[in-house]
Amino acid sequence: MSQVESSGMIEAPVTTGAIRRTYDLWSWFYGSVVAPLESRARRRGLEFAAIRPGDRVLEVAVGPGATLPDILRRVGATDVVYGVDLSSRMLARARQRVARAGFANVDLRLADARSLPFSDATFDVLFNSYMFDLLPLGDMPVVLGEFRRVLKDGGRLVLVNMSKDHGITLYERLYLATPAVLVPYLFGGCRPVLMADQVQAAGFRDVHREFVAGALSSEVVVARR
Ligand SMILES: C[S@@+](CC[C@H](N)C(=O)[O-])C[C@H]1O[C@@H](n2cnc3c(N)ncnc32)[C@H](O)[C@@H]1O
Repeated sequence: MSQVESSGMIEAPVTTGAIRRTYDLWSWFYGSVVAPLESRARRRGLEFAAIRPGDRVLEVAVGPGATLPDILRRVGATDVVYGVDLSSRMLARARQRVARAGFANVDLRLADARSLPFSDATFDVLFNSYMFDLLPLGDMPVVLGEFRRVLKDGGRLVLVNMSKDHGITLYERLYLATPAVLVPYLFGGCRPVLMADQVQAAGFRDVHREFVAGALSSEVVVARR
Protein backbone atom coordinates (compact mmCIF):
# COMPACT_ATOMS: atom_id res chain seq x y z
CA MET A 1 0.00 0.00 0.00
CA SER A 2 1.49 3.36 -1.07
CA GLN A 3 0.79 5.07 2.27
CA VAL A 4 3.33 2.80 3.97
CA GLU A 5 6.71 4.58 3.89
CA SER A 6 10.01 2.82 3.12
CA SER A 7 10.54 2.74 6.91
CA GLY A 8 7.55 0.36 7.11
CA MET A 9 5.55 2.97 9.05
CA ILE A 10 2.52 5.06 8.16
CA GLU A 11 2.30 8.82 8.77
CA ALA A 12 0.54 10.30 11.81
CA PRO A 13 -1.52 13.26 10.55
CA VAL A 14 -1.57 15.07 13.92
CA THR A 15 -0.78 18.58 15.11
CA THR A 16 0.71 19.44 18.49
CA GLY A 17 -2.44 21.38 19.43
CA ALA A 18 -4.71 18.39 18.68
CA ILE A 19 -2.43 16.04 20.65
CA ARG A 20 -2.44 18.36 23.65
CA ARG A 21 -6.24 18.71 23.53
CA THR A 22 -6.72 14.95 23.12
CA TYR A 23 -4.51 13.97 26.05
CA ASP A 24 -5.93 16.71 28.27
CA LEU A 25 -9.33 15.16 27.51
CA TRP A 26 -8.18 11.55 27.81
CA SER A 27 -6.38 12.23 31.11
CA TRP A 28 -9.50 11.37 33.11
CA PHE A 29 -9.58 7.73 31.90
CA TYR A 30 -6.19 6.97 30.31
CA GLY A 31 -4.49 5.87 33.54
CA SER A 32 -7.22 3.42 34.52
CA VAL A 33 -8.37 2.15 31.09
CA VAL A 34 -5.56 2.33 28.48
CA ALA A 35 -2.29 2.35 30.46
CA PRO A 36 -2.95 -1.08 32.13
CA LEU A 37 -3.24 -2.70 28.65
CA GLU A 38 0.36 -1.66 27.95
CA SER A 39 1.87 -2.56 31.32
CA ARG A 40 3.67 -5.76 30.18
CA ALA A 41 5.79 -3.98 27.56
CA ARG A 42 6.39 -1.04 29.89
CA ARG A 43 7.63 -3.45 32.59
CA ARG A 44 9.94 -5.12 30.07
CA GLY A 45 11.31 -1.68 29.16
CA LEU A 46 12.01 -1.00 32.83
CA GLU A 47 13.90 -4.29 33.12
CA PHE A 48 16.13 -3.21 30.22
CA ALA A 49 16.60 0.23 31.80
CA ALA A 50 18.27 -1.48 34.81
CA ILE A 51 17.80 1.66 36.91
CA ARG A 52 19.81 1.71 40.15
CA PRO A 53 20.34 4.15 43.02
CA GLY A 54 22.35 7.15 41.91
CA ASP A 55 21.06 7.12 38.33
CA ARG A 56 19.74 10.41 36.97
CA VAL A 57 16.53 9.41 35.19
CA LEU A 58 14.29 11.36 32.80
CA GLU A 59 10.91 10.06 31.67
CA VAL A 60 9.61 11.89 28.59
CA ALA A 61 5.80 11.87 28.11
CA VAL A 62 4.95 10.66 31.63
CA GLY A 63 1.21 10.72 30.81
CA PRO A 64 -0.78 9.82 33.98
CA GLY A 65 2.41 8.61 35.68
CA ALA A 66 1.95 4.84 35.22
CA THR A 67 5.72 4.21 35.28
CA LEU A 68 6.91 6.88 37.69
CA PRO A 69 6.39 4.96 40.97
CA ASP A 70 8.32 2.00 39.52
CA ILE A 71 11.17 4.30 38.52
CA LEU A 72 11.12 6.00 41.92
CA ARG A 73 11.30 2.64 43.71
CA ARG A 74 14.52 1.85 41.81
CA VAL A 75 16.48 5.08 42.42
CA GLY A 76 17.78 6.23 45.80
CA ALA A 77 15.49 8.12 48.22
CA THR A 78 17.35 11.38 47.55
CA ASP A 79 17.72 10.95 43.76
CA VAL A 80 15.35 13.28 41.91
CA VAL A 81 13.49 11.73 38.95
CA TYR A 82 12.62 14.17 36.15
CA GLY A 83 9.56 13.94 33.92
CA VAL A 84 7.93 15.99 31.17
CA ASP A 85 4.69 15.93 29.22
CA LEU A 86 2.89 18.15 26.73
CA SER A 87 -0.45 17.90 28.56
CA SER A 88 -0.94 19.83 31.81
CA ARG A 89 -3.86 17.57 32.80
CA MET A 90 -1.75 14.44 32.36
CA LEU A 91 0.94 16.07 34.50
CA ALA A 92 -1.64 16.80 37.21
CA ARG A 93 -2.63 13.08 37.20
CA ALA A 94 1.03 12.06 37.35
CA ARG A 95 1.66 14.36 40.33
CA GLN A 96 -1.34 12.84 42.16
CA ARG A 97 -0.18 9.28 41.45
CA VAL A 98 3.36 9.95 42.67
CA ALA A 99 2.13 11.69 45.83
CA ARG A 100 -0.28 8.81 46.56
CA ALA A 101 2.63 6.38 46.21
CA GLY A 102 4.44 8.45 48.87
CA PHE A 103 7.22 10.01 46.78
CA ALA A 104 8.33 13.66 46.77
CA ASN A 105 11.64 13.34 44.89
CA VAL A 106 10.20 14.19 41.45
CA ASP A 107 10.45 17.21 39.20
CA LEU A 108 7.62 17.20 36.62
CA ARG A 109 7.52 19.88 33.92
CA LEU A 110 5.30 20.94 31.05
CA ALA A 111 7.57 20.54 28.01
CA ASP A 112 7.78 19.28 24.46
CA ALA A 113 10.05 16.33 23.63
CA ARG A 114 11.26 18.29 20.59
CA SER A 115 12.87 20.89 22.85
CA LEU A 116 13.76 19.53 26.29
CA PRO A 117 14.47 22.00 29.13
CA PHE A 118 17.67 20.24 30.25
CA SER A 119 21.39 20.75 29.64
CA ASP A 120 23.50 18.45 27.47
CA ALA A 121 24.68 15.15 29.02
CA THR A 122 22.42 15.34 32.10
CA PHE A 123 20.89 11.84 32.34
CA ASP A 124 22.02 8.22 32.78
CA VAL A 125 18.65 6.83 31.66
CA LEU A 126 15.92 8.19 29.39
CA PHE A 127 12.64 6.25 29.42
CA ASN A 128 9.88 7.04 26.92
CA SER A 129 6.73 4.97 26.35
CA TYR A 130 3.95 5.24 23.78
CA MET A 131 4.93 8.65 22.41
CA PHE A 132 6.84 7.98 19.15
CA ASP A 133 3.78 6.06 17.97
CA LEU A 134 1.85 9.34 17.77
CA LEU A 135 4.62 11.57 16.37
CA PRO A 136 4.70 12.57 12.70
CA LEU A 137 7.59 10.79 10.93
CA GLY A 138 9.49 14.07 10.39
CA ASP A 139 9.59 14.75 14.16
CA MET A 140 11.23 11.43 15.02
CA PRO A 141 14.86 12.41 14.20
CA VAL A 142 14.37 15.77 15.94
CA VAL A 143 13.21 14.10 19.17
CA LEU A 144 15.90 11.39 19.01
CA GLY A 145 18.46 14.19 18.59
CA GLU A 146 17.13 15.81 21.79
CA PHE A 147 17.25 12.45 23.61
CA ARG A 148 20.86 11.96 22.50
CA ARG A 149 21.75 15.51 23.57
CA VAL A 150 20.46 15.17 27.15
CA LEU A 151 21.87 11.65 27.73
CA LYS A 152 25.37 11.22 29.12
CA ASP A 153 27.90 9.31 27.06
CA GLY A 154 27.02 5.63 27.65
CA GLY A 155 23.55 6.58 28.94
CA ARG A 156 20.67 4.14 28.34
CA LEU A 157 17.75 4.92 26.05
CA VAL A 158 14.55 2.85 26.43
CA LEU A 159 11.64 3.32 24.02
CA VAL A 160 8.36 1.38 24.33
CA ASN A 161 5.78 1.79 21.57
CA MET A 162 2.84 0.25 19.78
CA SER A 163 4.39 -1.88 17.01
CA LYS A 164 3.89 -4.78 14.60
CA ASP A 165 5.84 -7.82 13.45
CA HIS A 166 5.42 -7.41 9.67
CA GLY A 167 3.38 -5.93 6.81
CA ILE A 168 0.37 -3.68 7.25
CA THR A 169 -2.08 -4.44 10.04
CA LEU A 170 -5.86 -4.19 10.12
CA TYR A 171 -5.46 -1.41 12.68
CA GLU A 172 -3.29 0.56 10.22
CA ARG A 173 -5.86 0.10 7.44
CA LEU A 174 -8.54 1.50 9.77
CA TYR A 175 -6.25 4.37 10.81
CA LEU A 176 -5.55 5.25 7.16
CA ALA A 177 -9.25 5.15 6.29
CA THR A 178 -10.15 7.57 9.11
CA PRO A 179 -10.40 11.31 8.26
CA ALA A 180 -7.18 12.96 9.49
CA VAL A 181 -9.06 15.42 11.68
CA LEU A 182 -10.48 12.52 13.75
CA VAL A 183 -7.24 10.54 14.12
CA PRO A 184 -6.06 12.29 17.33
CA TYR A 185 -9.44 11.94 19.02
CA LEU A 186 -10.21 8.32 17.97
CA PHE A 187 -6.72 6.77 18.09
CA GLY A 188 -4.85 9.26 20.30
CA GLY A 189 -2.79 9.64 17.10
CA CYS A 190 -1.15 6.25 17.83
CA ARG A 191 -0.20 3.72 15.15
CA PRO A 192 2.44 0.93 15.09
CA VAL A 193 6.02 2.15 14.72
CA LEU A 194 9.42 0.52 14.07
CA MET A 195 12.01 2.57 15.92
CA ALA A 196 15.22 0.50 15.82
CA ASP A 197 16.51 1.85 12.47
CA GLN A 198 15.62 5.41 13.47
CA VAL A 199 17.53 5.05 16.75
CA GLN A 200 20.54 3.66 14.91
CA ALA A 201 20.40 6.49 12.35
CA ALA A 202 20.33 9.03 15.21
CA GLY A 203 23.78 7.86 16.28
CA PHE A 204 22.97 5.53 19.19
CA ARG A 205 24.90 2.26 19.59
CA ASP A 206 24.10 -1.28 20.83
CA VAL A 207 20.54 -0.96 19.46
CA HIS A 208 18.32 -3.91 20.41
CA ARG A 209 14.63 -4.53 19.67
CA GLU A 210 12.25 -6.90 21.42
CA PHE A 211 8.72 -7.46 20.10
CA VAL A 212 6.02 -7.93 22.75
CA ALA A 213 2.97 -9.60 21.18
CA GLY A 214 -0.46 -9.00 22.68
CA ALA A 215 -3.81 -7.27 22.28
CA LEU A 216 -1.79 -4.05 21.89
CA SER A 217 1.41 -5.43 20.33
CA SER A 218 4.43 -3.37 21.27
CA GLU A 219 8.18 -3.14 20.86
CA VAL A 220 10.90 -2.25 23.32
CA VAL A 221 13.93 -0.61 21.72
CA VAL A 222 17.00 -0.09 23.87
CA ALA A 223 20.29 1.58 22.99
CA ARG A 224 23.27 3.42 24.42
CA ARG A 225 24.33 6.97 23.69
C1 LIG B 1 -0.25 7.50 24.73
S1 LIG B 1 0.17 8.55 26.06
C2 LIG B 1 1.42 7.60 26.91
C3 LIG B 1 1.67 8.07 28.32
C4 LIG B 1 2.71 7.28 29.12
N1 LIG B 1 4.03 7.39 28.57
C5 LIG B 1 2.31 5.83 29.22
O1 LIG B 1 3.02 4.95 28.71
O2 LIG B 1 1.26 5.57 29.83
C6 LIG B 1 1.10 9.77 25.17
C7 LIG B 1 1.60 10.91 26.05
O3 LIG B 1 2.58 11.60 25.30
C8 LIG B 1 2.42 12.99 25.52
N2 LIG B 1 3.06 13.66 24.38
C9 LIG B 1 2.68 13.62 23.08
N3 LIG B 1 3.52 14.33 22.31
C10 LIG B 1 4.45 14.85 23.15
C11 LIG B 1 5.57 15.68 22.97
N4 LIG B 1 5.91 16.15 21.76
N5 LIG B 1 6.30 16.03 24.05
C12 LIG B 1 5.97 15.59 25.29
N6 LIG B 1 4.91 14.79 25.53
C13 LIG B 1 4.15 14.42 24.48
C14 LIG B 1 0.91 13.16 25.60
O4 LIG B 1 0.56 14.38 26.21
C15 LIG B 1 0.52 11.92 26.41
O5 LIG B 1 0.54 12.18 27.79
